[in-house]
This record gives sequence, C-alpha cells and structure tokens, in this order.
Amino acid sequence: MDIEITAFDGERAEEADLLAYHRVVQSARDVDLAEAVPIAYEAVVRSVRLPHPGLGRADRWVARRSGEVIAVAFAYFPDGGNEHVALVDVTVHPKARRQGIGTALLEAVLPGLRGRRVVEGLQVVAGGAGERWAHALGFRTVNATVMQELRIADVDAARWDVDVPEGYRLETWSGAAPDHVVESYVRSKAAMHDAPTGSAAFHHPEWTVERVRRTEEELRRSGRDHRVVVAVHEATGEVAGFTELRLPVPPNREAVQQDTGVHAEHRGHGLGLCVKARMLRDLVADDLAVDSVITSTNADNEHMVAVNLALGYTTIRSMVDVNRTAAPD
Ligand SMILES: CC(C)(COP(=O)(O)OP(=O)(O)OC[C@H]1O[C@@H](n2cnc3c(N)ncnc32)[C@H](O)[C@@H]1OP(=O)(O)O)[C@@H](O)C(=O)NCCC(=O)NCCS
Repeated sequence: MDIEITAFDGERAEEADLLAYHRVVQSARDVDLAEAVPIAYEAVVRSVRLPHPGLGRADRWVARRSGEVIAVAFAYFPDGGNEHVALVDVTVHPKARRQGIGTALLEAVLPGLRGRRVVEGLQVVAGGAGERWAHALGFRTVNATVMQELRIADVDAARWDVDVPEGYRLETWSGAAPDHVVESYVRSKAAMHDAPTGSAAFHHPEWTVERVRRTEEELRRSGRDHRVVVAVHEATGEVAGFTELRLPVPPNREAVQQDTGVHAEHRGHGLGLCVKARMLRDLVADDLAVDSVITSTNADNEHMVAVNLALGYTTIRSMVDVNRTAAPD
C-alpha cells in the first residue's frame, strides 16, 4: 500500500497539513453526520494543539498518500479509574475508504497505546461505516447512546419556567467553581457513577477538587466558557444536583450540554429538570450567541431522555460505543 503513517504533532504541524487534517474531519462529518454543524478550521487547530477538557492531551497519527493527509487518528489516555482504557478514533477521508487505510492506521496506533488493555471508540454512528468497520476488526458494541438537539428558536421558552422544589435553592457560575461550593460540587458529581454506560470500559471518572480545577483550566485555555447550575439543599448546605454546559467558540453557535446529576438521596423531586431548565433560561436571558444545544445520553437512561424531551430536545441520532482488547489474548 502506498501509504505512509506517522505520528502527528499539532504544535509543529505545517499549515498545509493542518488544512488537510481539517478537510478529512469535515468531509467525514458531511458523510457520517449529515446535518451536523460544520467544524471550523480554527476549531480543528485548537483541538490538535490543546488538551481536551477533562481528557487531557491526545496522541495523534496521520496517514498520507503522495504526501497528503488522507486519514487521521487519535488516542486519549483517561485517568480517574480509567487507566486500563485508551479512547481511540480513526477517521478516513470518504474518498479514501474501503482501501484498508483505516485498518492500517489502527494497526499502527495499537503499539502506541501505553499498555492500555482496552481500545474503546466512543460515539460511533449506530449502523454506520464506523460500527461496521469496527465489527469487521473484532470490536463489540458495548453501549448505546442517543444524540439530542434543542433548537432555541423552535422551542416555547415557557417550557423552562420550572419552579425550584421546596427546600432547595439554585446557584450558578461561569468558569471556575467558587471556593465555598467546590468541595460539595465535587461530591455531587459522584452521582454520575449511577448513570448507565452499558458494558463500556470507560466510566465517569472519580472527581476531586484538583481534577475540577484542571478541567476548568483546560476549558479556559480552549476559549470555551463553562456554565454550571447547582441545586443546594438548604437544610444541609450540600449540593444535591448539578448541570454543566459548554458554550461554543464563535463563529460556532452550538453549545454542548454536559453532565447532569442528582445525588441519590435527592432524586424524585424534579431537580434534574429544574437545573437544566434554569441553564436554558440563563442562556437566553444573557443573550449568548447560541442557536442550539446538543447532548448525548445513554439510550437506557429513560429519566434523562424524558427530561430532555420535556425541555424541547428532539432525538436526532443513535450512537454506539465499541471496544476490544488492544492486543490479541
Ligand atoms: C470507519 C472508517 C475509519 C473505516 O475506514 P476504511 O479505511 O474505509 O476501512 P478499511 O478499508 O480498513 O475496512 C476494513 C474492513 O472493515 C469493513 N468495513 C469498512 N467500512 C465498511 C462499511 N462502510 N460497511 C461495511 N463494512 C465496512 C469491511 O469488512 C472492510 O473490508 P473490505 O473493504 O475488504 O470489505 C471510516 O469509514 C471512517 O472514517 N468513518 C467515520 C469515523 C468513524 O466512525 N470511525 C470509527 C470509530 S473510531
């Protein structure tokens, strides 16, 4: 095969390679994620140069033909209880598919996975080229998620007029968590461990104040504002529930709704709906440059899916996670 595969260093890459990298990513999106918001060249450059907030820095590889980048791959090495997993993605330009390039790129990546036992691909379109390719290479589908989208102009904002349940008050911030609440916020984030993740190897990490501060710093460096709404239980002063959202970097106008969790002792009072509704009200009240919000939720997470539908989200796509061992047993 006339293909050259090398490691890719986003910091040192020449502009021609960065432009070709962006072309691969955008052309693949056009085919695999029809109607998804286009990804700007600058966003791709940021993603290859900066740590991903919460996951850290990726190792990257590219495949070239006649010197031009035609396929890209990356691997993240998550911590916080995920030290056995490498999160890997392989993307081949649509015009170069079914020529063995994706397989060759994956084989070149495997020895670089720092001894991680499981290779996992997250958010692969269900039934699409990625899932079929993965099955051909011995991966199993281990989890199913749904992608939901809320178009702000299409939803009656009255849906977000949700009363705060008695005995709780809301607190909000943007960027860094205030010192007086950060420890309780960290404790509340453990609620994510109750979210179903099928039999995926990657789990919601163990949160600490240090991890929260590191992620906030990575978000700051990536230019993304991060908003949080928490429900505080007034009798104890503890954070009972929270929701998090990442604002887009202009010109992108699509925000990403991140984790939402309610501590087991406080479930069943409507806190999940309440904190998410407040987040949306604030987005509009603060006149932020956002047209839509997307979120990904486990397909079995009926409560979260129902909350999202009540807020005006619609389900736009089914996704899966796939995995296999990194080395043959
Ligand atoms: C998945 C992807 C990387 C495959 O790249 P590729 O270079 O076309 O794959 P290969 O040529 O190495 O395919 C190897 C085998 O996988 C299977 N396969 C690949 N694409 C397939 C498809 N669209 N439908 C059915 N089987 C497929 C086939 O068995 C194929 O062998 P064959 O062509 O001899 O029949 C590419 O389609 C892509 O970039 N998709 C979008 C991103 C993605 O989903 N990545 C995977 C998650 S990490």
